[in-house]
Amino acid sequence: MAAVDAADLGVGPGAWCAAEARSGRRCDVWHVPVAESPDYSICVFLLGPGARIPAHDHPGMTVLSKILQGSLDVASFDIVADNGDGTFAAAARWRTVEAPRFSELYATRDNVHEFVAGPEGACVLDVLSPPYDAAGGRDCHYVRVVRADGAAAVLEVYADGVEKNRLQTSLSRSNRSRFG
Ligand SMILES: [Fe+2]
Repeated sequence: MAAVDAADLGVGPGAWCAAEARSGRRCDVWHVPVAESPDYSICVFLLGPGARIPAHDHPGMTVLSKILQGSLDVASFDIVADNGDGTFAAAARWRTVEAPRFSELYATRDNVHEFVAGPEGACVLDVLSPPYDAAGGRDCHYVRVVRADGAAAVLEVYADGVEKNRLQTSLSRSNRSRFG
């Protein structure tokens, strides 16, 4: 994975523009599946300038990412407590990363994250293992940052109550070893 670059994937500068032109659709974030198996999935995200992938989780998963082009503002969160009111206390990290840059997240570290592309957009290669599988308890949950004060944040699922319950289940399970 360290040796892969944008050219290997046929991704040129401004690739999101080319994706728009090919599809005839306006879209800030393009998801391009590369490979799927029961053990992993590989995909590429193309983000236009300023495009955002909202905060979301990867329950019980490891994700290896390589930023191939551009830059990203990244917010990463570790859930540290269930506040009991549908919100979660989290430890937050905020950073800007530029290509080429490799990163990873785990079930118990940086599992919730959010991306905002820089002024030139970004291209990111992701390897997820195991892949998302809603039936297997690995559904994706989108999260709102209710408050953030430096390294302390409060998160909330912005779907309905069913989604909140599912997040509570998955996050408490993924953090059990770390937070007892
Ligand atoms: Fe993600």
